[in-house]
Amino acid sequence: MKQKILVAREVFPEVLERLRQHFEVDDNQADAILGVEGLKVRLADKAGALTAATDPVTADVIAAAPALKAICNFAVGYNNIDLAACSRAGVMATNTPGVLDDTTADLAWALLMATARRLPAAERWLRNGEWQGWQFIQWLGSDVHHATLGILGMGRIGQAVARRALGFDMKVIYHNRTRLPADKEDACRARFVDRDTLLRESDFLVLLLPYSPESHHTIGAAELALMKPTAHLINVARGGIVDDEALISALRQRRLAGAGIDVFEGEPKYNPGFLELDNVALTPHIGSSSRATRMAMAMRAADNLIAALSGQRPPNLLNPEVMG
Ligand code: GLV
Ligand code: GLV
Repeated sequence: MKQKILVAREVFPEVLERLRQHFEVDDNQADAILGVEGLKVRLADKAGALTAATDPVTADVIAAAPALKAICNFAVGYNNIDLAACSRAGVMATNTPGVLDDTTADLAWALLMATARRLPAAERWLRNGEWQGWQFIQWLGSDVHHATLGILGMGRIGQAVARRALGFDMKVIYHNRTRLPADKEDACRARFVDRDTLLRESDFLVLLLPYSPESHHTIGAAELALMKPTAHLINVARGGIVDDEALISALRQRRLAGAGIDVFEGEPKYNPGFLELDNVALTPHIGSSSRATRMAMAMRAADNLIAALSGQRPPNLLNPEVMG
């Protein structure tokens, strides 16, 4: 008999076809948000699940799923999963690192350029029919070329963002818990600096930290006050890393020139103050959203699930202690 699994959000049909070769699949192609209560019900008889960053895999959810052996997130971030509870229950948890680095780095750059050159506000102005003629002094933006790019959180995505800066002749500085080995620093021509130097010197500061209680409000009023008033902040990592209220206040008072934001505290809700600002570029958590990358993420999650439920070590196991 095939083992039962849940696919907790809508995915491509190709992914379901592949999973059906191995498992009896309960899919959520209706894409209803299951939440804690919905997950408890749908996971009650399941051996595994493909989950998204929007699915709260809490200790309660895990306790309600006695047959559960594997939770396979189709995301690189996994702050939606209570990893300790998984480990206590012997449930393997996996994520999808590596397959979304370039696509997410591309979006960081899209937001960086959009806020630097004020694209969202200029486009709104044009669409509103307000363009009466070309003017010499109109929609003046910030230069990206030869500026200083700062990266906080220098993992794979951070390095991909840094490599793209080469073509813009930028100076690249970064801060990370651990310094990169010299060959990796050389590959993206990035210089390690302390956190305050990063905040003070960056013209464009890109945040690429995972969310955890330790990274909550890593960028708040005090950090924003260290930044140049001409600087721009880009967040494609997770909501909650930035104190959104403090960011909005800095942007409103032009203590910061602009921001490009893909992730929000409490999303899909967001602070309505963002909408009143004309110096922000806002996107709805689409960092990894290209068809090819979303396919690769779902297929990688499927690889992890197939390995886990056939007694092998999944390629992206987050809690190796469950293997004993
Ligand atoms: C998306 O937010 C991810 O963590 O992959
Ligand atoms: C602007 O349109 C220019 O020609 O410089």
